[in-house]
Amino acid sequence: MSAADQADHAADRAADQAAAQAPGQAADHGFGPARAEGPEGGESRVGLREMRWWDIEPVLALEQQLFPEDAWSAGMFWSELAYARGADATRRYLVAEDAALSPGAAAGPAGSLVGYGGLAAVGGTGDIQTIGVLPGHRGTGLGARLLRALLQAATDFECAEVLLEVRVDNAPAQRLYERFGFVPIGIRRGYYQPTGTDALVMRLADPAVYAAAADTSGDAPANTLPHPDPHPHQGTKSHG
Ligand SMILES: CC(C)(COP(=O)(O)OP(=O)(O)OC[C@H]1O[C@@H](n2cnc3c(N)ncnc32)[C@H](O)[C@@H]1OP(=O)(O)O)[C@@H](O)C(=O)NCCC(=O)NCCS
Repeated sequence: MSAADQADHAADRAADQAAAQAPGQAADHGFGPARAEGPEGGESRVGLREMRWWDIEPVLALEQQLFPEDAWSAGMFWSELAYARGADATRRYLVAEDAALSPGAAAGPAGSLVGYGGLAAVGGTGDIQTIGVLPGHRGTGLGARLLRALLQAATDFECAEVLLEVRVDNAPAQRLYERFGFVPIGIRRGYYQPTGTDALVMRLADPAVYAAAADTSGDAPANTLPHPDPHPHQGTKSHG
């Protein structure tokens, strides 16, 4: 990174921190720290914040760990983040940052990032592009917090529905989605390459209901959406 890039980076970060600390100036997307048990049972504070370009490298390290068979490239993240800011934004990407691992804890290859997620919004339909949590932080409600924040993003983008693909054999992820009201609407054969694993397509109508539901435990309202859409969507290749 050049000296000019480093200066830009520092200025961008300072601006982000100032926005985060200025009450009432930043949109409330359900971000912010929450108490959770750390990987070794010690307390940590994991906050959600917007993913920025300087997070791409550590997120790629997470990506390799969570999706080794079809990890996204840096270029894919750069391309997505290009649409994440400004009045015409159609993407929201978040990272979960552990700001206070127990003293002396060694940072992993992803630094303090322990999860991430992203949503694309096109034509009134949101698409969960990716969501993942490091194994040591699972089962603490972090996946639910990320998903809730992505549904808030879908609401901000005025999406009437949210779609996603999930591996047919990924039971933990399917349970998370079902807790938020997603229902199966179809199968995409051989969607995940090179393994050829099928994708289950799931749909959530009215994401605002689930984004707004009070939640401090990772729980979400029961599935109350009885009208599955029989037409699988044609979205971009996703991990969601
Ligand atoms: C899917 C994934 C994101 C879920 O993340 P997570 O942080 O474990 O999600 P949560 O903690 O919100 O929920 C997981 C479980 O913990 C439980 N849980 C949540 N908070 C809890 C708490 N405080 N105490 C005990 N259990 C808790 C939930 O009820 C849920 O239980 P269930 O699986 O039996 O339904 C995670 O498993 C993951 O990253 N998997 C690998 C990547 C992946 O497959 N991504 C999805 C691609 S489609």
